[in-house]
Amino acid sequence: MSRTIWIDEEGEVRTIDQTALPFERRELVLRTLEDCDRAIRDMQVRGAPLIGAVGAWGLALALRDDASDASLKSAFERLAASRPTAVNLRWALERVRARVAAQAPARREALARDEAGRICDEDVACNARIGERGAELLRALAQRRAARSGGDGTGPAPLNLLTHCNAGRIATVDHGTALAPVYRLHAEGVPVHVWVDETRPRNQGAALTAWELAERGVAHTVIADNAGGLLMMQGRVDAVIVGCDRVAANGDVANKVGTYLKALAARDNGVPFYVACPVSTIDSGTPEGASIPIEERAAREVTHVDGVLGDGSRASVRIVPEASPVANPAFDITPARLVSALLTERGVFEASVAGVRAALGAQ
Ligand code: MRU
Repeated sequence: MSRTIWIDEEGEVRTIDQTALPFERRELVLRTLEDCDRAIRDMQVRGAPLIGAVGAWGLALALRDDASDASLKSAFERLAASRPTAVNLRWALERVRARVAAQAPARREALARDEAGRICDEDVACNARIGERGAELLRALAQRRAARSGGDGTGPAPLNLLTHCNAGRIATVDHGTALAPVYRLHAEGVPVHVWVDETRPRNQGAALTAWELAERGVAHTVIADNAGGLLMMQGRVDAVIVGCDRVAANGDVANKVGTYLKALAARDNGVPFYVACPVSTIDSGTPEGASIPIEERAAREVTHVDGVLGDGSRASVRIVPEASPVANPAFDITPARLVSALLTERGVFEASVAGVRAALGAQ
């Protein structure tokens, strides 16, 4: 089972509790709207496409308990507010609502379940396409890199990519967005190595990206968030590839906080900076990055670090003085001018008003 959300033999919705990774693979059963809302807020599930999928199932589960108009409205609003930056959540909720709103309450649960299932299936297909499209682009870089190296008996040097946060398999229903081309190249036998930003404060890179790359046998190295600039300056990064939580109409992108700094370093060093996302991440209703709501998360994510002790038990340790105030914006905005291209299931587009329009209009 490589999907991150599925229906088990009892007909229950199951997912993986990502707060237990990389130390334990724990499954979570989502039985109610409350279960889905909690899983999204507490980041047991995370990553824009997976949040959308869980939101869609949350609405279906709410309608199982109460299929009235009032229940549809309150469940929609509750789930939509659970994480504000990733537009895929609202997009998925709107799809389910549009499918059921005009129907009799008795039919709503079945239709909502069907729509949630479709959203999941489409996510898998979209990400497989992103993998193909992205691999085409990266293959050219890999060939150039291989032509420069080799001849010394060690074989071609790998394509070195740098990624921030986790936009892999477990951030989606399957395949991932930024990591989909990586898995594709790896499956083709192209030597590829990924620099994995740890991604403070929640360490999605160190904990999740490293875990899933290791699971698939992809060469990778975890680095401190601040190391990427030096590696780019030293010519040790061929391209940066990240996921995205929302693309504004002008091509500005919101992604995990710290992405902008990588884009600046990439531009300064002539390294291509690619943003991989399904078209459902494009929000034509948001004119520019400055209008994207940035989620502010709990101070505890900054003041404490979670991990395991030598005896294998889980621990959370404070690293900031009690008296120090803390801010924790979870995302930042990378201006379109720093983005080399948007990699979508419909092709590769410029990060610009024209590029975004073309992506939305393409089939
Ligand atoms: O806060 P998270 O872990 O949900 O943030 C995830 C990211 O920023 C990802 O890059 C983004 O959602 C794309 S996931 C394919």
